[in-house]
Amino acid sequence: MAKVTLKKIPVKVPAKPRKAVKNNQRIGIYPGTFDPVTIGHVDIIQRALAIVDKLIIAVAADIPKTPIFSLKKRAEIVESEMRHQNKLKTKFFGDLKRIQVTSFSGLLVDFAAQNKASIIIRGLRAISDFEYEFQMAAINSRLHPDIETVFLPASEETQFISSRFVKEIARLGGDVSHFVSPHVAKSLKSYFSAKK
Ligand code: COA
Repeated sequence: MAKVTLKKIPVKVPAKPRKAVKNNQRIGIYPGTFDPVTIGHVDIIQRALAIVDKLIIAVAADIPKTPIFSLKKRAEIVESEMRHQNKLKTKFFGDLKRIQVTSFSGLLVDFAAQNKASIIIRGLRAISDFEYEFQMAAINSRLHPDIETVFLPASEETQFISSRFVKEIARLGGDVSHFVSPHVAKSLKSYFSAKK
């Protein structure tokens, strides 16, 4: 039998070992625009809570798109959503102390490092998300090799949802209740009624 020689692939390791954080807590960060938060985001948050001890939901100020809701409003809606899921007793939302909702400006990796997060969580919905997400993960890794990006596939029920489509439906007076919680639908309704 021919002898198989395995080629050694150089592996890029962080210069320093990952720092242990207080009580060995694994802190994850879930960044996004959240304009507004949808049940797709909730699905990712729920599953992220299964793999980290603490999850920081980071509402971004520096984004390439123009949101309809202000930074403060987007963060407030995410916070209400977390309380809503807690009331509904959605799995993993039982302990709100494990979740922190905050807004941030500047580079995501800097914010993650300041908060001792070792994992960036991103949801992947379709192949179309992959290229952008892969590039972003590579850039973030180059900027901060200690911080790892973990991709979670969107669930079958939520993979077609996007905030953009939710806003479009709300703008045209459609029913968004399949995609967002009632309080989010209410915020969208008042935003678009005020625009008329
Ligand atoms: N289910 C349903 N929808 C989902 C989803 C899921 N699991 N995950 C994402 N989406 C949707 C969002 O609703 C959003 O839809 P939209 O484009 O129609 O609005 C879209 O997917 C992507 O949005 P989001 O997940 O919020 O990511 P983003 O691309 O808006 O956010 C940041 C990008 C905030 C992470 C990035 O801009 C950032 O890190 N900014 C900080 C500055 C920085 O560090 N820049 C360098 C990055 S390399």
